[in-house]
Amino acid sequence: MRRFKLALGVECSHCHKGTDNRSFSDFDFAADEKEAKRIARKMLHMVSTINGMVSGLERGPDHKPLEITCVTCHRGNSRPVMMKEVLVETYAEHNGSIDAVIAKYRQLREKNYGGFAFDFGEFPVSAFAFTLNTQGQPEAAIKLQKMNEKFHPDSPNNPSGMGFICRQAGQLELAVSAFRRSLEINPSGRWVAGQLKEVEKLISGKQQP
Ligand code: HEC
Ligand code: HEC
Repeated sequence: MRRFKLALGVECSHCHKGTDNRSFSDFDFAADEKEAKRIARKMLHMVSTINGMVSGLERGPDHKPLEITCVTCHRGNSRPVMMKEVLVETYAEHNGSIDAVIAKYRQLREKNYGGFAFDFGEFPVSAFAFTLNTQGQPEAAIKLQKMNEKFHPDSPNNPSGMGFICRQAGQLELAVSAFRRSLEINPSGRWVAGQLKEVEKLISGKQQP
């Protein structure tokens, strides 16, 4: 049961009727009235079905099979949602407010950084920035990439992504400075160097956009 608690990042009372304290005095563990407990039972069944399928994969005598457990999916999160999905959902819930997305990200980071419930690496954020850009929201994408650069100052990918988005949005000066920042971090970035040259040419008017 402690494994359930840790895997989902919840207290016993998430699934059982009672008030959390050390003595469990008022708990009724056998009661089935909480929806989470009923779902947990279905999850147990699902996990054993999946493990049956995994162990049925014939992979040779030396193969050490891996087992799926609650934590494989839940990662300390009762609702095992991925970071990019959280950003997408927050954006939709707040009618396209990128400030709300940024506030949500900071709040999650404050609470969960160092744990494994959410991926605070650079990629979920930049993936959403690219999605926004493809959906014709370059300003929102740029704001998000700026945040990503602050949290990952050593990554050449955020400024190069920023450069790409700014170039598409026609913000050529911003694109140049972003590509330069990327090259400062990774001087051998050939794609970035090529982009920088192209945008500089566009600016000096030698090439039509
Ligand atoms: C994610 C939901 C979940 C959490 C969290 C959880 N349990 Fe359970 N618990 C269950 C389910 C489901 C069963 C029934 C298992 C079954 O039917 O085989 C159960 C059964 C039990 C039982 C046996 C009850 C009986 O039928 O007699 C005890 C005791 C119990 N849990 C204690 C705890 C304690 C203590 C904690 C906190 C450390 C805890 N549980 C956290 C879902 C949960
Ligand atoms: C294969 C991935 C996967 C595994 C493994 C898994 N879950 Fe889940 N679980 C999910 C998903 C996805 C949801 C969200 C379903 C939804 O509401 O859309 C969920 C939801 C739940 C919920 C309801 C959310 C809530 O209110 O807490 C409980 C309880 C739960 N899981 C318990 C468990 C337990 C206990 C185990 C291990 C026995 C387990 N899960 C293993 C994917 C998984």
